[in-house]
Amino acid sequence: MKIQKAEFLKSSAELNQCPETEWPEYAFIGRSNVGKSSLINMLMDHKGLAKTSSRPGKTQLINHFTVNNQWYLVDLPGYGWAKVSKKAKEKFQLLIVDYMEKRKNLTNVFVLIDSRHEPQKIDLEFMEWLGELGVPFSMVFTKIDKLNGNKLNGNLKDYRKKMLERWEEVPVSFSTSAETGAGKLELLGYIGEINR
Ligand code: GTP
Ligand code: MG
Repeated sequence: MKIQKAEFLKSSAELNQCPETEWPEYAFIGRSNVGKSSLINMLMDHKGLAKTSSRPGKTQLINHFTVNNQWYLVDLPGYGWAKVSKKAKEKFQLLIVDYMEKRKNLTNVFVLIDSRHEPQKIDLEFMEWLGELGVPFSMVFTKIDKLNGNKLNGNLKDYRKKMLERWEEVPVSFSTSAETGAGKLELLGYIGEINR
């Protein structure tokens, strides 16, 4: 799919502030610092579209971007950020729960997972919860430029195994790098397929 136009639309602190639901919506979520905002910039070929930082906790609101005047892309805050206060964590959780449970036009959630690590409880639990809600999701392994092919394949294999303990099939998954652009065509192609 060709990206003709990608623009920031708005940031929302609550679900009821989010834009109209007339277009399909694709959301990116995962641990703080996993590379959600960087991936969005890579996919849209637009550095600086979504704000990134080497310090976790950069994205704190629900950020909507419009793409080709046809669909929304959503950058969400990260989960599992140790340094936020309990109150902030609760607020964030409520925001995400509300969003995942109620957002009518939510078409697919991309759950980002750092490809350098073995399966993490917090990510597995998050996907488990999406499954319970019946929200369609895919897995996106990030930062693959940071490890060699053998290590990457080993980690992907471990993940597949872990997922099969819970699911009948492994969800659709992608291997990506915001640095090299790996996975861009596959991921955009997938959105294009769903959007048809
Ligand atoms: P929060 O908004 O804080 O939840 O983080 P985020 O998931 O949006 O992460 P962000 O895109 O801000 O990236 C975090 C850090 O990882 C930044 O320093 C990025 O430059 C770096 N990073 C992100 N993706 C990649 C990647 O594919 N390869 C490499 N080498 N670094 C990456
Ligand atoms: Mg971010």
